[in-house]
Amino acid sequence: MTDDKQKMRKRKDEYMKDILLTKFAEVFGDCKGAKVYFAPGRVNLIGEHTDYNGGHVFPAALTLGTYGVARKRNDRKLRFYTMNYNRVDIVESSLDDLVPLKRAGWTSYPKGVMWAFEQQGMKMDYGMDLLLKGTIPGSSGLSSSASVEVLTGFILRDLYGFQVTNQELAIIGQYAENNYNGVNCGIMDQFAIAMGKKKHAIFLDTVTLEYSYAPVKLKGAKIIISCSNKRRGLADSKYNERRSECEEALQELQKVVKIDALGDLTEEEFEKYKHAIGDEIRQKRAKHAVYENQRTLKAVEALQKNDIETFGKLMNESHISLRDDYEVTGRELDTLVEEAWKIDGVIGSRMTGAGFGGCTVSIVEKDAVKKFIKKVGKAYKKKIGYEADFYVVKLGNGPKIIY
Ligand code: GLA
Repeated sequence: MTDDKQKMRKRKDEYMKDILLTKFAEVFGDCKGAKVYFAPGRVNLIGEHTDYNGGHVFPAALTLGTYGVARKRNDRKLRFYTMNYNRVDIVESSLDDLVPLKRAGWTSYPKGVMWAFEQQGMKMDYGMDLLLKGTIPGSSGLSSSASVEVLTGFILRDLYGFQVTNQELAIIGQYAENNYNGVNCGIMDQFAIAMGKKKHAIFLDTVTLEYSYAPVKLKGAKIIISCSNKRRGLADSKYNERRSECEEALQELQKVVKIDALGDLTEEEFEKYKHAIGDEIRQKRAKHAVYENQRTLKAVEALQKNDIETFGKLMNESHISLRDDYEVTGRELDTLVEEAWKIDGVIGSRMTGAGFGGCTVSIVEKDAVKKFIKKVGKAYKKKIGYEADFYVVKLGNGPKIIY
C-alpha cells in the first residue's frame, strides 16, 4: 500500500471512530473504556448455493461492513443500539434472557452469537453495551447479518478473553444463524467475513473447510455491485425450501450412486444418474448444485491463469443456471444482469448471495464503469420503477480492532 493510501485509510478509521464514540457517549452516557471494532461484509464471486451441497465457493470480504462500539458492564444487562434505523431506542435485554427462535429483530444477530458462545461453554460473566453501525446496504445479499455475527464473536473474544480462532468465529456465527435465528445457511458468509484478506478471494471447500487465498487480479477491471433495492430476508425467502429440495434429490441419487453430497458429482456423473431423481424440479435444483460447483473449480483455475474472460463467462453461466434451474433470481436481478451483459466492457455479471432480491456482482473494464452505472441504472429504473444503487467495491481484510 502506498503511504497516501495508508494515510487515507487511517483517516477514515479515525473519522469513523470519532463519530461512533460520540454517538456511544450520547446513547449510553459516556464512552469511557469503550472499544471500536469493524467486520466486513462479503461478496461471492462464484459458487452460489453450493455451500450446503458439499461444494466449493469463492467469496471475498469487502471494505464495506459493520462497525461496533462495545464496553463490558458490571451487571448482566445487555444494551443494544443501532445507528442504522431512524428513531430506534436502546434495546435492553439480559444474559439470562438469551433464548433461541424468539425473533427479536436486529438484536437477534448479536444475541444469537452470545447464546452460541454460552452453548459452547464460553460463559460471559458480565453483560455489555453495544452500538452498531453498518455501511453495507441492508437486506442486500452482502451478508450484513453474518457481518454482525462475526463482529459480535470478535468483540466477545477481545472483551472476555475467549480462546477462539477466526475460523471458529465463523463456525459459531453459522451455528447462531442456524439455531438461534432458524435460517439454515451454509458456512460461506461467516467464513468469508472472518477470514477475509485484502485483494484476495477465498477458495473454500465447504466440506473439509480447507481453503486457499487467490489474488483477484483483474487487469485493471473493477468489481461493481449493483443493488436491486428489492429487500429480502433469508428467513422469509425460499432459501430453506431450496435446501430441502437438494437434500431430497441427494437421497434419491444415493439409491444409485455412492455419494455424500451433490458436490461429489461431476457433470457427466450427474447426467448418468439424474434419472433417479423422480421430479423435474428437484432434478433442476440438483443440476445447478453440481454444475455450479464444477464451474467454481474452473473459474478459480481460470483466474489463476489470469484468464479473466473465461472467469467472466463462467459468472454469466452461473447466473443463467441460478435463473433457469435454481430459480432464485427474479425480475429485478435478471434485469440488472441482462442489462449489464449488453454493455461493452462487461467481463461478467451475475447475482450474488442467496438471491430473491439483493445484489449482482459484475466485473467491468475501468473505462466502461461510468457507462455501466448510467445505462444499467436507467434501464433498471425504466423497467422496475425504482432506482438501483451501484458500488465500485474493494476486497478487504477480516475483522479488526480500530481503537
Ligand atoms: C446465503 C447463505 C450462504 C449461501 C448463499 C448462497 O448467503 O448464507 O450460506 O448458501 O446464500 O450461495
